[in-house]
Amino acid sequence: MIRLSETPHLQEPTTAVRTSYLVGEQADLLLRGTDTSSLAAASEDFGQYVAERRGIVERWGVPSEVFWFVSGEMYLGSLVLRHRLTEDEGGGHIGYHVVQPWQRQGHATRMLGEALVKAKDLGLERVLLTVAPDNVASLRVVHRHGGVPDGRNHEGEDRYWVETAPL
Ligand SMILES: CC(C)(COP(=O)(O)OP(=O)(O)OC[C@H]1O[C@@H](n2cnc3c(N)ncnc32)[C@H](O)[C@@H]1OP(=O)(O)O)[C@@H](O)C(=O)NCCC(=O)NCCS
Repeated sequence: MIRLSETPHLQEPTTAVRTSYLVGEQADLLLRGTDTSSLAAASEDFGQYVAERRGIVERWGVPSEVFWFVSGEMYLGSLVLRHRLTEDEGGGHIGYHVVQPWQRQGHATRMLGEALVKAKDLGLERVLLTVAPDNVASLRVVHRHGGVPDGRNHEGEDRYWVETAPL
């Protein structure tokens, strides 16, 4: 198992993780049987790809930020934090993924913990997360952070509210 040089943390996208990002995301897409063409532009001009993902950007009609979970030159996963909910509340405030080689090591649980602090700094007292009912791993992550169920949304995903004060 690869040893990480430092404790991973959420940070803005960075060119420092170019190789591990491209390899990790490509492996993930291939494992899911998803088209990898989105990575072509990233591999050609990673600096531009990163620049487009930094800062507060309007996505789904609401301001949002993308963070990467990084240890030194290692990219482990991504998290998006919407500053407010979309009109239909689809996708909630926070979405995340950990690339396959780094799964099942507690990284998503820690990523969400860090994101809750960022959400609190934005003035959010609680955040909405939406999870497919068969996504056992993500349900565990949400439960670990005290997620309180609030029905199912129009996309068939279960809704959970998580308080932003760290547990
Ligand atoms: C969901 C996901 C982010 C979890 O990442 P992770 O880093 O493996 O999660 P953690 O290591 O923090 O594990 C959290 C819990 O889930 C469990 N878990 C992780 N992967 C699992 C799996 N494939 N099957 C069953 N349980 C699993 C862990 O054992 C842990 O359980 P515990 O709290 O009882 O110890 C990751 O599987 C992923 O990226 N999936 C694809 C994208 C996705 O589903 N995103 C979430 C959308 S809501």
